[in-house]
Amino acid sequence: MSDQQIAGWGFEVSNIAIVGAGHVGVVYAAGLAELGHRVKVVDVNAKRLAMLRQGRIWFYEPGLPELLARGLARHRIEFSSSYATGLAKARFVFVCVPTPTTAEGNLDDSFLRSALTSILANTRAPWPVVVNKSTVPVGTGDVAARLFDGEDMHVVSNPEFLAEGRAVEDFFHPSRIVIGSRNRIAGEAVASLYAPLRVPVVHTDPVTAEFSKLAANAFLATKVSFANVLSRIGESVGADGDGLAKALSLDPRIGAGHLRAGLGFGGSCLPKDLAAIEQLARRYTESSALFAAVAGVNRAQRARVVELLLERFGALGDRRIALLGATFKANTDDLRESPALALANQLDELHAKVIVYDPVAAAQLRTVAPNLEVARSSLAAVRGADAAIVATEWPEFATLDLSEVRRAMRGSLLVDGRGIFDVESAHRAGLDYFSFSTAGVRPAETEERLQAVAVAS
Ligand code: UGA
Repeated sequence: MSDQQIAGWGFEVSNIAIVGAGHVGVVYAAGLAELGHRVKVVDVNAKRLAMLRQGRIWFYEPGLPELLARGLARHRIEFSSSYATGLAKARFVFVCVPTPTTAEGNLDDSFLRSALTSILANTRAPWPVVVNKSTVPVGTGDVAARLFDGEDMHVVSNPEFLAEGRAVEDFFHPSRIVIGSRNRIAGEAVASLYAPLRVPVVHTDPVTAEFSKLAANAFLATKVSFANVLSRIGESVGADGDGLAKALSLDPRIGAGHLRAGLGFGGSCLPKDLAAIEQLARRYTESSALFAAVAGVNRAQRARVVELLLERFGALGDRRIALLGATFKANTDDLRESPALALANQLDELHAKVIVYDPVAAAQLRTVAPNLEVARSSLAAVRGADAAIVATEWPEFATLDLSEVRRAMRGSLLVDGRGIFDVESAHRAGLDYFSFSTAGVRPAETEERLQAVAVAS
């Protein structure tokens, strides 16, 4: 965005420091720079910083390299490994550090605490406003504020709602901005940073803002599990999952997102935040059964595929199983909590020969799953395979010629774990097709079950 355009919005550009050059920090750095702000990013990882200075990003995020390049070319973004340098002159310090899950299912806020301590040690009056974007245990904002007791330093909770693979789009077109602050002026100052985005802003307290982030992810996880249970019922009664999802999605109270049935949800956010909210429900309500069931349904989706293969082959020893996709969803190279990778490892434990192809995650795969064979293309993966599984919905898989796939395979089973093909094309190619979202996959069996339902009623 040009300086003239920005001037037209009547908002002030600010000096912003961002702590953490991860999936969130880099997107916010490049996005805020595009809005006109001057951004300095602080991280302890010198290797990542060196890459970022050259405009190279250590993870895959469509559109982000171009956005970063624009910020660098306009001298609006700098990177530093020193808090003192990075925080000098900052009016706002965005905290974008990871909060992984502890063994008990809680969110681990140790990186956040250490970042806050460093911020306190490296800033002085006039104090910057600390803006927390990390997903944190509910109540953290108030705990953090107490760290700064005695100083006139405000901590504002401003959760991020960026989905990987579309984070740039989400930055510029968010559905809402949530600002949790005990101080009205600090909250409004943070909101004004985003003024050019012209989106609804929810002003609330830090606890509510933090809880709203957990709640949103837990709801999305629940929606995916709901869609997965419906697809299991649909499989038996002969309902078409895609048609069902469409019919539901047109109801504005339900909405279109996260209704795709398949291998289940993964990634660094939904499973983690679901576990955290389950902990809260266990602690503060009579039952955490809802969230436990959501997690259970999610695990069952993968188990269903294993079951299907066992039904088909008896045992999996020496069976070649091709897995198309390893990342937790398309358009990211993130393998964290990936349902695809978990399934690959489960099959490997059952002594299947698993060959994986992923368009962007091959290098990481060799490091995190050295037990799996990594192929260079979809066709190389399916060559000689007894079964092929679509485990991630990468767009390039949808363009595969299924007849060619069938000819390359030894067997004929295609498990479409992400619902990207249709049953007719798969059958035309001579494949036995299973999908979570398509009814009529096993016509004889479906017919039998329908008759049983008819007789029973
Ligand atoms: C999620 C939220 O969508 C973001 O709003 C949030 O900011 C982010 O977590 C976060 O906490 O930082 P993300 O983890 O990138 O974003 O991924 P999603 O797009 O939500 O997908 C999560 C999982 O659900 C994926 O494994 C995906 O394949 C699965 N999914 C999604 C389905 O199985 N079906 C669907 O219909 C949609």
